[in-house]
Amino acid sequence: MQELWIPLLLTAIPLYVANASAVVFGGKTPVDFNRTWGDGKPILGKGKTWKGFGMGVLIGTFTGGIILHYFPTQALATSPEYLLFSFLLSAGALVGDMAGSFIKRRMGMQRGQAAHFLDQLDFVVGGLVLSLLAGPPYWVTVFLVLIMITPFLHMAFNRLAYLLGLKSVPW
Ligand code: CTP
Ligand code: MG
Repeated sequence: MQELWIPLLLTAIPLYVANASAVVFGGKTPVDFNRTWGDGKPILGKGKTWKGFGMGVLIGTFTGGIILHYFPTQALATSPEYLLFSFLLSAGALVGDMAGSFIKRRMGMQRGQAAHFLDQLDFVVGGLVLSLLAGPPYWVTVFLVLIMITPFLHMAFNRLAYLLGLKSVPW
């Protein structure tokens, strides 16, 4: 258990940084170029932009590079290909997030409308599934722990953002 903390942290950091960077650096041009699906609704919607996608992948991977530089032993114990692993986590997070929006649009939900669990877990599942390609030894355990704690982390962050006056509601 003791030694699980490090792979857990070194997986969670690029994953969450990639996801958050897309939100912080979101742009204008939508990934779906405003096109609609056969049901007449947007394919993904205006909340998924190329800039958000690119910045998420770039900053998530770069964060992995910094971690690898300063903590090589711990990084390589997390995945023998840690830089590739960070890239796959980041790209997978953004693809998973888009898959989540695709599902929401097919369910007729407006852009930004809350879909509990889906909103919070799409990027975790996407990132972890793609990152399997980089052979992370603790994958199963890390996957299960992140799936379990992410909804709670999400609640805690929203509450903190509310207390800091960044959000108008605590959820
Ligand atoms: N964002 C982006 N590009 C992405 C992902 C996110 O530009 N690939 C930005 C958008 O400004 C988006 C914000 O981050 O509005 C919040 O992301 P998210 O909650 O995933 O999107 P929503 O707007 O809530 O849309 P959806 O209903 O599709 O989840
Ligand atoms: Mg949202």
